[in-house]
Amino acid sequence: MGRQLSFKIFRYNPTLKDNKPHIDFFQIEETPRLNVFTALFKIREEQAPDLVFDFVCRAGVCGSCAMMINGRPTLACRTLTSDLPDTIELFPIPFFKLLGDLSVDTGVWFRQMSEQVESWIHTKEEFDPTAEEERMDNALANKIYETERCIECGCCMAGCATALIYPNFFGAAGLFRIGRFFIDPRDKRKNQDWFELVSTDEGVFGCIGMMGCDDVCPKDLSLLEMFAYIRRKMSGIGLRKRQTVKKDAIF
Ligand code: SF4
Ligand code: FES
Repeated sequence: MGRQLSFKIFRYNPTLKDNKPHIDFFQIEETPRLNVFTALFKIREEQAPDLVFDFVCRAGVCGSCAMMINGRPTLACRTLTSDLPDTIELFPIPFFKLLGDLSVDTGVWFRQMSEQVESWIHTKEEFDPTAEEERMDNALANKIYETERCIECGCCMAGCATALIYPNFFGAAGLFRIGRFFIDPRDKRKNQDWFELVSTDEGVFGCIGMMGCDDVCPKDLSLLEMFAYIRRKMSGIGLRKRQTVKKDAIF
């Protein structure tokens, strides 16, 4: 017989007038290789048909099943119950709009962030259908690919202390996205454009350095490395700007 697992699950349906946030308790028997997502499915099938949680891929790819598992933001489909104690507490990830129980709306925030950081290649060059034949250097292509691995799960924002201070903070996901275009030579934005976009409290200089994002990112993205890279670049641009202003003032 497997372990008896006790689940304490946050429940709240904001669309029902008299519904209040509360915790529901469930028990199930652990089976080999059981993950939290499958356990939730079992609970929904057998005990709580109205339990709300998100999933699409069940393989750590879509980012939908992010939730607080025993106080840590992570993916339910990638968390084995065998790595957890007998009692498992599940809450929705904070920072995003709660839709119900364990489900939050990350999509609106990610869309707004994409618009805020102008998440597209900026160029005046006309589209050239033959350009496909121009190979990008492999090392650079790999770097850009690495910056595309974010699955928009929202765990970094849920673990971010700065986001509590600056509600419009780009966050690790936003700064990583900026980095993606910053290193892409097809994006023709100038140093000044990047500086204005990112050198603010909402951007790279707002981060108070608690490193929660880097601790919890389920895709192990090099978030801190990217922060350091963008900070260094922006400090360099800022310094050059100051020197120019000083020079202008003297002469
Ligand atoms: Fe999730 Fe990591 Fe992307 Fe943040 S940076 S949204 S934690 S994959
Ligand atoms: Fe897609 Fe978990 S269901 S990441």
